[in-house]
Amino acid sequence: MEKRIIVALDFDTAKQARELLACVDPTLCRVKIGKELFTACGPRLVKDVCALGFDVFLDLKFHDIPNTVAGAVRVAANMGVWMVNVHASGGLEMMEQARQALDSFGSDRPLLVGVTVLTSMSKSGLEQIGVEANPEEQVSRLAFLSRDAGLDGVVCSAAETRLLRAQLPDEFCLVTPGIRREEDASGDQKRVAGPAEAIRSGSNYLVIGRPITRAESPAHALQEFISAIASAS
Ligand code: C5P
Repeated sequence: MEKRIIVALDFDTAKQARELLACVDPTLCRVKIGKELFTACGPRLVKDVCALGFDVFLDLKFHDIPNTVAGAVRVAANMGVWMVNVHASGGLEMMEQARQALDSFGSDRPLLVGVTVLTSMSKSGLEQIGVEANPEEQVSRLAFLSRDAGLDGVVCSAAETRLLRAQLPDEFCLVTPGIRREEDASGDQKRVAGPAEAIRSGSNYLVIGRPITRAESPAHALQEFISAIASAS
């Protein structure tokens, strides 16, 4: 079975992360470690989670000078992660060097994906930093730049998936957060989509946090998402 669900371990202690990991099966899902958990627990936890058999998406959204980002991506690959990301707005050269840093890992290298425009950014937020394009145009521009740099895909909201899927090659992967079932609260997510809808629009991987991590039974919630996806594929 292709594991399309990435469970977001948005916790600030290793204990909470381990409790969740004890409830879900690494043959059924992958997991994401972001800035909160990484800042709290560091690379040790990343290596431990990999050792438990989970594919880890290290979501640290690197954005710095090309040499520094290339070095950070190389260290992430050495930890054994499955996917790592950089901000596409760091530019073509930064992304190319990050991608080249993974060459020596051959077919074992992690997937490298770009972050386009954060979903928290509105048109006025973009204008404030000097970007005149509307968010959709900017997402598309940065997705093409990511592809030109040799990246494997981008993170994008469900609202952008259909457009990007139509514009970009099939093998370019789309990673989509903001996924909710009908019964789930949207929380702070403004643009949400159901799991089946996201898959039908062309997402390859769905990042799901609270609907699984805060469920009474995370294993049961995960299974429901898996079933919903299976019905859409
Ligand atoms: O709990 P929830 O399902 O909203 O978690 C979604 C996860 O995806 C969080 O880890 C969040 O940081 C991440 N994410 C997002 N929107 C983006 C990029 C990442 O929600 N544009």
